[in-house]
Amino acid sequence: MLVKPHQIFADALASDYAIGAFNTSNMELSQGIARAAEKLNAPVIIQTSEGAIEYAGLEVITAINKKIAELSPVPVILHLDHGKSLDMAKKCIEAGYTSVMIDLSVLEFEENIRKTKEVVAYAHARGVWVEAELGAIVGKEGVKDLHGGQTPDSFFTQPNQAKQFVESTGVDALAVSVGTIHGAFSGQEYIRFELLQQIQEAIPNMPLVLHGASGISSDHLAKACKTHVCKVNVDTELRIGFERAVKAYFDETHDSYDPRKITGPARDAVQVVVEEKIALFGSSGTAGIY
Ligand code: G3H
Ligand code: ZN
Repeated sequence: MLVKPHQIFADALASDYAIGAFNTSNMELSQGIARAAEKLNAPVIIQTSEGAIEYAGLEVITAINKKIAELSPVPVILHLDHGKSLDMAKKCIEAGYTSVMIDLSVLEFEENIRKTKEVVAYAHARGVWVEAELGAIVGKEGVKDLHGGQTPDSFFTQPNQAKQFVESTGVDALAVSVGTIHGAFSGQEYIRFELLQQIQEAIPNMPLVLHGASGISSDHLAKACKTHVCKVNVDTELRIGFERAVKAYFDETHDSYDPRKITGPARDAVQVVVEEKIALFGSSGTAGIY
């Protein structure tokens, strides 16, 4: 079922688990995500970036995701990932998304607050949840090569700023920069738990969001999900699973021309990755409590 995030996040904040948020840009990815959540009886967030929306078209990708959500027995949140403008947030809200992220972390602090507030006002008037970002999460969005895949100290979320940001903007969840990076770099143990703890103490009622979960070690991810991290974003590992399955198809000899034989196994491969992550995040079996 398509749901608003409020109750799910309240429970995740009070308990020791996080909701998996998985990126999609086509039907197979969305079905792989939903099937995994259904198998594990977990709530799930299906999210689209601006790039995915540009690729598939907002109406088309929303129609697919909405229908998948409506048909699903588990709670499904439709979320805009890394939205860059009020205009994009508005379009997604009008299309039926129940949650949006406004990511203005590249702006100066005061400007980030001012523009984030506009999105919060618009979204809250329509009952939609808002995630924002403070600090910067490096990686595939352009700065990885500049920093060798490591987060420079100046990019980390500052606990005192986080408090001011949350109080000034009225956001519902905050994406924090605590060492994870966008993209898959195997077995990273980058999460700065002392910093996460300090942020959590500064804003104790705020659900935190961990971006860039691909490639982060299972130990670090599982430990993070026992803090106030309530949402964990995974994209690259789904893409890798999808691509490997497609490659395996072409590596074998085949004698028919059928797109379903290419993308069907890719959908299954995505499901396997999502199942592993949901189990790690501790949200298996929690769908029934809403
Ligand atoms: O917003 C999406 C993510 O933060 C995904 O990051 O590609 O490292 O899994 P990832
Ligand atoms: Zn992200």
